[in-house]
Amino acid sequence: MKNFQKITFSIISILIFSCSNEKLDAPFEIKSPNNSLSATIKIDDGVPFYSLSFNGTRIVDKSRLGINADKFLLSEDLKVIKAKRSSENKSWSQVWGEQKIIQDNYNELELTLLSNSENHKMILRFKMFNDGLGFRYEIPKQKKISDFTILDELTEFNLEEDSPSWWIPAYAYRRYEFLYANTLISEISRDKFSELIENLSGARIGPEAVQTPFTTQRKDGTVITIHEANLTNYSSMALKATGTKKLECDLFPWSDGTKVKTSAPMKSPWRTIIVGANPSDIVMSTLTLNLNEPNKLSNTSWIEPGKYIGIWWEMIGTNQSTWGSGPNHGANTEKVMKYIDFGSKHGFNGLLVEGWNKGWDQNWCCTGDGEDFGFYHPHPDFDHIKIRNYAKEKGIRIVGHHETGTQIENYENQLDSAFSYCQRNGIRVVKTGYVNDGSQNIKRTDENGKIVKEWHHGQYMVEHFRKVLETAAKYEVSIVVHEPIKDTGLRRTYPNMVSREGARGQEFNGFMGLNDNNKPNHTTILPFTRLVSSPMDYTPGIFNLTEYRYFAPDNRKINLNHQIPSTISKELALYVVVYAPIQMAADLPENYEGHPAFQFIKDVPTDWAQSICINGEIGEYITMVRKDINSSDWYLGSITNENQRQLNIDLSFLDKDKKYNATIYKDPESGGWQTNPEEIVIENQSVSSDSNLIIKLPSGGGQAIRFSLAK
Ligand code: NOJ
Ligand code: CA
Repeated sequence: MKNFQKITFSIISILIFSCSNEKLDAPFEIKSPNNSLSATIKIDDGVPFYSLSFNGTRIVDKSRLGINADKFLLSEDLKVIKAKRSSENKSWSQVWGEQKIIQDNYNELELTLLSNSENHKMILRFKMFNDGLGFRYEIPKQKKISDFTILDELTEFNLEEDSPSWWIPAYAYRRYEFLYANTLISEISRDKFSELIENLSGARIGPEAVQTPFTTQRKDGTVITIHEANLTNYSSMALKATGTKKLECDLFPWSDGTKVKTSAPMKSPWRTIIVGANPSDIVMSTLTLNLNEPNKLSNTSWIEPGKYIGIWWEMIGTNQSTWGSGPNHGANTEKVMKYIDFGSKHGFNGLLVEGWNKGWDQNWCCTGDGEDFGFYHPHPDFDHIKIRNYAKEKGIRIVGHHETGTQIENYENQLDSAFSYCQRNGIRVVKTGYVNDGSQNIKRTDENGKIVKEWHHGQYMVEHFRKVLETAAKYEVSIVVHEPIKDTGLRRTYPNMVSREGARGQEFNGFMGLNDNNKPNHTTILPFTRLVSSPMDYTPGIFNLTEYRYFAPDNRKINLNHQIPSTISKELALYVVVYAPIQMAADLPENYEGHPAFQFIKDVPTDWAQSICINGEIGEYITMVRKDINSSDWYLGSITNENQRQLNIDLSFLDKDKKYNATIYKDPESGGWQTNPEEIVIENQSVSSDSNLIIKLPSGGGQAIRFSLAK
């Protein structure tokens, strides 16, 4: 009875089922709860198709559905034998997130299809939300199908308009770490990418395709993002370009060319089409999370949002230390203790230490051929007992680091020991890494003992990433993955999946020269593409933006070929624009100590009650505001690309009838990433929800504001 009460009181939910009497040979229509979106599903001569309209305008034309497997073809010769509808409107709360409460409101259509000649059965399930459509394939348990191999998924996304789109290439050597190209859908190709962004003329295997989330914007302003949700026991989906406005599902293959090895009952990931009237709507979408399973972890008290510093930038950015042994080894006990002092003094709850373990002394990067990494084998000058005790005394935790160099078998063999080492040493967050510049270069020993090479994005790696996440949870460790598989909303099911990279992060500003680093527009594209699947370990907060990098750890001459195309104000704004429950303050302690702008990094929360995208145009600018989960404070982050601009911000989001003190961190009049990036102006102003603010952003600049309740 108690449980029953708990369920009825804690979930405000309306669930309506109906086994409709609708005609099974008619087109089926499914609408969003607010009626703005409408999909039509029909079977033409045995072949299933769908189309999608937004506010009465067709946005996805007739597009094929189906699965081709070794033992069946479920894409022709089909008829619908059952149609079932249901609706849901409930809310659920996040362990941490951009907002506490998420509304899960959709209409659902379940169609059971049967192949006329073979009697194979498949369910097509559609869920229509106000922010988009999700659909998936289900192969139920049935007499004629047990184990099977998917050779091809035939899903199409036949967009109605050939509109500008923002994309990164699939089947390219550097996983997801590319700048975005902006072309018409019909223009997508590696040649075009080479012409606009970066030369991909090297290895050319795999089809012309793009990664998801893939975003396109129609002439009427409608924004469409194609992605997937709940990528489980399957291969990840790229979108194959066809030289037209049609994109096709393309599953990353296994080394033997097959796509997915599975068995009935099977559920594919959800194919998702997120739709918004403007770019801000896309940022606010919760569809991906709603299409994932509820939290599976019974106790989450050990998952702590927060901020961390790291022995990191001095290797990747300033080039003054090394991961491996030698006179410049970064992760030495004495230095770690100094960082602990700094982090603890300024209220950080984590200190990342890279290069603390065995495995860095040979060529660990970028082939997967290095010395085996040891994940519970500290480097001789890293005294883990002393460090553990000192960190505990100072109230800060070490953030562990597992660079695998993509030696997957080596890592999997040590997983339990590695995470139990973490638990013993008070480590509650581990950053993992999979550097391997080849993409289809991940070694696996097959059933015959032969070494084969798998894609970074195929089913083998999808399953590997899940194994790591589940093992980490067993030892109460959260994971921040670098070089991950894309985010498909799994953080709902496993809230210890706290963050990931999966795009070009700050590190590229560290090690790439002036011509190849992130451009000022990069972070104005991310919110509408990669971050639609959120969160990201971008690692913002560099204050020393010019003359920061040495030629080599043993050559402390400044290499002037490096500059970060940002300003200190923009670096601050990124803490609000790029969401992550665990955020890094990436620069060196000496660049923060005594700097007035450091206060913003210390203040800004990483767990929010509410988030709103106030404005934004893809690749141009964006303004986000978020409300702290633990107080009435609001924070604003606004950034621009290379163009200066002025934005008028209506503060009506602030709590009504309250007076706020706005602490404004902005670029000076002479500001801009090229002219005066390291000067910052800090001002205070009294405001309320009736106020308006004019925000001036210089080229490559930004603005960050803390609104705290006036005393
Ligand atoms: C690449 C990661 O993105 C970076 O953060 C890390 O420092 C290196 N790999 C080494 O693991
Ligand atoms: Ca990386």
